[in-house]
Amino acid sequence: MDKEQKYRSLLPQAVSLIGASKDLVADMANLSALLHQEMGWWWTGFYRAVGNELVLGPFQGPVACTRIGFGKGVCGSAWERGETVIVPDVEAFPGHIACSTESRSEIVVPVRLCGEIRAVLDIDSRELACFDGTDRLYLERICTELACRINPELRAYVESEILPRYDSFDKGHRRDHAETVIAQSLQLSTWYDVQPDLVYTAAACHDIGLCEDRATHHIVSARLIREDTNLQKWFNAKQIALIADAAEDHRASSGHEPRTIYGKLIAEADRQILPETVIRRTIQYGLSHYPGLDREGHWARTLEHLHEKYAEGGYLRLWIPQSPNAARLEELRRLIRDEARLRTLFETFYQEENDQEPHI
Ligand code: SME
Repeated sequence: MDKEQKYRSLLPQAVSLIGASKDLVADMANLSALLHQEMGWWWTGFYRAVGNELVLGPFQGPVACTRIGFGKGVCGSAWERGETVIVPDVEAFPGHIACSTESRSEIVVPVRLCGEIRAVLDIDSRELACFDGTDRLYLERICTELACRINPELRAYVESEILPRYDSFDKGHRRDHAETVIAQSLQLSTWYDVQPDLVYTAAACHDIGLCEDRATHHIVSARLIREDTNLQKWFNAKQIALIADAAEDHRASSGHEPRTIYGKLIAEADRQILPETVIRRTIQYGLSHYPGLDREGHWARTLEHLHEKYAEGGYLRLWIPQSPNAARLEELRRLIRDEARLRTLFETFYQEENDQEPHI
């Protein structure tokens, strides 16, 4: 089994451990045991943020230092920077705190809630360069789940009654899409003072209206949420209204801002601003809507649209600045400024689109 496969089988187990005990430290204890056992690392555990120090929490492995100052060592650096730190060689990391001479590489992942880092997950390996983007991805997912601690009964309902509805939708809106939006919106939600169960449910339900109609599916999703009496077990009328509104607002366009932070979280989690995809779609739109234009005409239209919508001061609005979409939008803006590079991409995509079936 490669690392990715191990994480894939471990993730549902990790999620199922979270929340049932209704105690954060108990969840940390079981998570460190599961991760340590399954992944075979040297040291796996949590430090909790208490005042201006990290204090040793539940862990597996040899004894470790009990307090780490803000900004100190790898753990304190991850806390200070507010992001995951991967250290391929601990000896090359200035200020690394050596709890054990056996440790050669390390990853530290913050556990954030309401915009504050409450703890870090620290993992040490006896191998050099043991950790990479795959570890970051899955460990960040696990830390988000730990921070959000979704009600296990609600999760069981969503997994058995809501998510299977996506199986009959088109390829872009199957269950994996709902799961991606759930994961992404929960991750974004850790920056805000919001109720994670609401974010989870709105994300899980945001596209269920596709069972009736594509064009108005957001409105149908909202209606189905309001009509779902099961949800009343976990939410009051006000909360259900927030969930329904968030689902209804998930297709927010620049002229229609989501009404609440819940809607903004779902709308941002539901889109991916991928620079090359944006450019290709712009060309595709031009080809199908302005068939009379020649190549130069399409180039001019593409430029105009990209500038109007995506350049600095353009009408596109990011709902959640901490989203990975912010960095992607920056990349797209660099591309828009570099007209020579943009023209090269335009030529490639324009050619590819014209080589395909005619646009009607
Ligand atoms: N190496 C960590 C200290 C904790 S131990 O590895 C368990 C650091 O530099 O923060």
